[in-house]
Amino acid sequence: MIKKIGVLTSGGDAPGMNAAVRAVVRTALSKGMEVYGVKRGYVGLINGDIEKMDERSVSDIIHRGGTVLYTARCPEFRTMEGVKKAKAKCDELGIEGLVVVGGDGSFRGAADLSSLGMLCIGIPGTIDNDITCTDYTIGFDTAMNTAMELVDKLRDTSQSHDRISVVEVMGRGAGHIAVNTGVACGATDIITQEVPYDLDDIANKMLEKKANGKQNFVVIVAEGVGHSTEIATALQEKTGIEARATILGHVQRGGNPTLRDRVEATKMGHYAVELIEQGIGNRVVALKEDKVVDYDIQEALSMKKAYDEKLHKICEQIAY
Ligand code: ADP
Ligand code: F6P
Repeated sequence: MIKKIGVLTSGGDAPGMNAAVRAVVRTALSKGMEVYGVKRGYVGLINGDIEKMDERSVSDIIHRGGTVLYTARCPEFRTMEGVKKAKAKCDELGIEGLVVVGGDGSFRGAADLSSLGMLCIGIPGTIDNDITCTDYTIGFDTAMNTAMELVDKLRDTSQSHDRISVVEVMGRGAGHIAVNTGVACGATDIITQEVPYDLDDIANKMLEKKANGKQNFVVIVAEGVGHSTEIATALQEKTGIEARATILGHVQRGGNPTLRDRVEATKMGHYAVELIEQGIGNRVVALKEDKVVDYDIQEALSMKKAYDEKLHKICEQIAY
């Protein structure tokens, strides 16, 4: 019988993390467990910045972006010394299980802590949706909707000036936000790391479309490709059409989580506690074909996630 568990958020924050924390806390309390909130990810676990939580600790947070537990990156936790310190802190408080809401890096840390006997369960929380074992990561939907709204606003001004708008969206290692935002905003082109691109081809296509009456163009660039300012300058030079670059940046990580993020976070948080209750650890919770499932952390980290090239091509094919 597991009596005490901890919960933390780690790596980049994502809208919906609060809903996951709430689900973990309330599910554990409903099962008679004590729950401890760890502040600033593994930093708080090493330093003992840990507080007991009750039902009210998670009131009024389901609808809020960010994370009430704060988050951080913790270089010390990448060493086994740091992991041992964290384990010693947990032992001191009698914490036997830990739910880690974060990305791949946070799961690597959770695997190390699991190797010392802690029951760790990872919940995928990152706006990038770049965690391979799961179809969905908490924050993805909210971030894409934020990006979409911002690109819509840019389109108004781009249209008024007959311009090219080059918009960089987040995703340093994956183009999932870019491809979906591109489709939703009717982008002329999407530039991601996953698909080769040629600025001459893009410029020629724009000129053809301009001859056919099209007056403004939206190009979505994934952060991992970068160079969005240079891309805008190059397209302006090659087409003679005025271009502007906009980097949406961290605004995409904030804001109230969408319904989807709140619901998926709640399902995953609940499931994580059920695993720990059964004495199961070293697992990552995942969403597969609308079902909540779990994988061994190492197995989860070794999988390769597919990029939706078909969606990418559809977007470009119908962008006239
Ligand atoms: P994310 O979880 O969003 O991928 P990071 O890669 O920044 O974010 O990882 C978050 C934290 O997880 C790091 O600051 C570090 O404490 C821990 N971590 C990352 N990689 C490892 C690793 N290889 N071994 C142990 N801990 C790690
Ligand atoms: O992983 C989420 C993410 O927002 C990426 O899309 C982005 O590259 C990165 O985090 C930014 O991290 P930071 O908050 O450290 O600038």
